[in-house]
Amino acid sequence: MKILKVVGWVLLIALIAIQFIPSNLNQEEVDYTTDFATVYNVPENVNRVLETSCYDCHSNNTKYPWYNRIQPVAMYLSDHVEDGKKHFNFSEFSSYSLKRQKKKLDEVAHEVEDGEMPLDSYTLVHWDAKLSEADKKLVIDWANELNSSL
Ligand code: HEC
Repeated sequence: MKILKVVGWVLLIALIAIQFIPSNLNQEEVDYTTDFATVYNVPENVNRVLETSCYDCHSNNTKYPWYNRIQPVAMYLSDHVEDGKKHFNFSEFSSYSLKRQKKKLDEVAHEVEDGEMPLDSYTLVHWDAKLSEADKKLVIDWANELNSSL
């Protein structure tokens, strides 16, 4: 039992120690010149769905929950944001080549259709980000329409 006590203390100290690891916040000045909603005419209702369900991981501005102050949660979230942005970033969308933009719009429609996005781990805590069938259709139709107009 003594060993358990030691392990417990070590874990507790480690947990406290990692609280000092700074987390990089994904909160930049918005560069509206390359932002998606500036360059393309995004209908208000579509924009609302994208902002609520996608922008936390696919833009340069994340609205963080309070528990982002706690490690290792902050590292976990930061990982998702970095990964999401690497794949596709609404804030820098218009700086992509036309070919890439079209590919990404195609992927948006597919990921939403297949229920892959937003990530399950995200909607588990962000209930409002869950897409209804109507939201899905809205985003898919709009992405396809924009894609074919480019
Ligand atoms: C919690 C963070 C998070 C949210 C919210 C989120 N995504 Fe993602 N997204 C990711 C991550 C991480 C990846 C890359 C890994 C993967 O594909 O699972 C990704 C990948 C993608 C890709 C694939 C791009 C490629 O290059 O293959 C598309 C498209 C996408 N997301 C669209 C969306 C859309 C549309 C929404 C909103 C309806 C959304 N995502 C919401 C984190 C997120």
